[in-house]
Amino acid sequence: MDYIKVAQTNEVKDGEKKIITLNDKVLLITNIQDTYYAIDNKCPHMGGSLFDGKMDGYNITCPKHGSVFDARTGKVIKNGKITFINLKVKDTKAYPVKVEGDDILVGLE
Ligand code: FES
Repeated sequence: MDYIKVAQTNEVKDGEKKIITLNDKVLLITNIQDTYYAIDNKCPHMGGSLFDGKMDGYNITCPKHGSVFDARTGKVIKNGKITFINLKVKDTKAYPVKVEGDDILVGLE
């Protein structure tokens, strides 16, 4: 696995998120209690940008239909709805993250 620098630590402060494009991927980087996480930014349902969603602790809510994802694992915590229809949304992908000095690195296969 190759670790690639995606940002510097001072660009993503505690409680903040940042969107980055890396090759063909768009990743959401979060800093929650001074630990960094990375997941695919695109909601697996219909492509909502999770960067535009609300972040509450580890929970990120898709701005399109309200599915909630865990920023640490990419797993769906709560499925969203379209009017009265309950959705069955897949998990989004999570990537390993490490910090070296002031650099945030994401592991890609
Ligand atoms: S696009 Fe995210 S829940 Fe529909």
